[in-house]
Amino acid sequence: MDRKRFLRTVAAGGASALAGAKVFGAKLTPQKSAGSSGLAVGNWDEVRALFPLRSEVTYLNTGGLGPASQPVLDAVAEQCQLQGRIGEHYHKLFAGARESAAAFLGAKPNEIAFVRNASEGNSIISSGLKLRKGDEVLFESHAHPGGSFAWMNRQKLDGVKVKIFEPSSRSVEENLERLFAKVTRRTRVIQVSHVTATTGLIFDIPAIAAEAKRRGIWFHVDGAQSAGMFPFDVKDLGCDSYATSGHKWLNGPIETGILYIAAERNDEVVCSHIGAYSDSAYELPDTLEYAAAATRHEYGTRNAASVVGLEKAIALQEQIGRERIAEHGARLSELVSQGLQEIKGVELLSPLDSAMRSSILTFRVPGVSCMDVSSRLSKEFKFRTRVVTEEDLNGVRASWHVYHQEADALRYVDAVRSTVASL
Ligand SMILES: Cc1ncc(COP(=O)(O)O)c(C=O)c1O
Repeated sequence: MDRKRFLRTVAAGGASALAGAKVFGAKLTPQKSAGSSGLAVGNWDEVRALFPLRSEVTYLNTGGLGPASQPVLDAVAEQCQLQGRIGEHYHKLFAGARESAAAFLGAKPNEIAFVRNASEGNSIISSGLKLRKGDEVLFESHAHPGGSFAWMNRQKLDGVKVKIFEPSSRSVEENLERLFAKVTRRTRVIQVSHVTATTGLIFDIPAIAAEAKRRGIWFHVDGAQSAGMFPFDVKDLGCDSYATSGHKWLNGPIETGILYIAAERNDEVVCSHIGAYSDSAYELPDTLEYAAAATRHEYGTRNAASVVGLEKAIALQEQIGRERIAEHGARLSELVSQGLQEIKGVELLSPLDSAMRSSILTFRVPGVSCMDVSSRLSKEFKFRTRVVTEEDLNGVRASWHVYHQEADALRYVDAVRSTVASL
């Protein structure tokens, strides 16, 4: 399909442009629209209306923080009010939320721990695995500090050796080659971002998992950017552990996160922090037996309102339709990718291959600072983007999600065109 026809099809709302295409590393089955299936949230205007996000600015930084919808904010406020009136910690509400989170990720409830963010989930894995001096841990150079620092800290404290590979935006196979070329007999852990924060590149998680398993290497996925962007099942991913934030693509309350640890590997992750609920019993005297579930990493009194809010955010995703959300993000991202490729002076940093491209799209203007480009897009065109200064990429990143429409994507392409012409 030529570009003009593609844009016309997509701008006309043509889901058919991508139906059956391989996006997010998997084939998505297009869902019926939520409206036609009788659910409350139908078209994208209705979805947008659920979010109190100001309309003067087009917010394109869900990869940094995904603002909560009104139903989520209300659920949190209601629970806070309730606790203000009644007292009590309402820890009992964690059980239902855990079931929802487990079902959402395709896990069992005992494989889920509620954490504060992806960084905490990553740290629980890095500090809980028994590693010795000289053991090697491998991750990609585009890892976010929330993923990489967990292991750098282990290197600093225990002499674990950090090794880094450069991701390729060219092909899935090249990524696998680059990663496994760095694996040695001392490699104990591989970690990758499911979706990189820099360019939105999607790694082939099942392929990495299969090879890691064959070699007896622990495989942890930093999923800060994937849960809520597209549907997947952790059992299909095949990783040993997975951590995500609730306050990005899930649009949950700030300071929420989920950690998954495969039940059969649970005992390999010891507690780095501990308190009530980490133990199978509660009171002394006791020999301190860790709880036989990922819940051992939830210790002490927690904010039930946050967890209730996260449960609401998960329910809202299901209501809108997870495949539908994924397909929408992929369509907008494809639209922007096609548009930016036409602009002279713009270099796309995100993968062109739809199997590796996500709802995050990053470009740069060689020779021009990303700060200048991003600030022009903000001041003149009211787009909130995020600069990508990591690894000297000099990029500008936009995250396409449920509160955006084709018109926003087309306006963004026009704004980039005008910005580049004026620089
Ligand atoms: C891949 C990745 N990992 C970890 C994080 C850290 O997330 P949080 O601050 O929610 O822990 C981010 C944040 O952008 C990220 O993109």
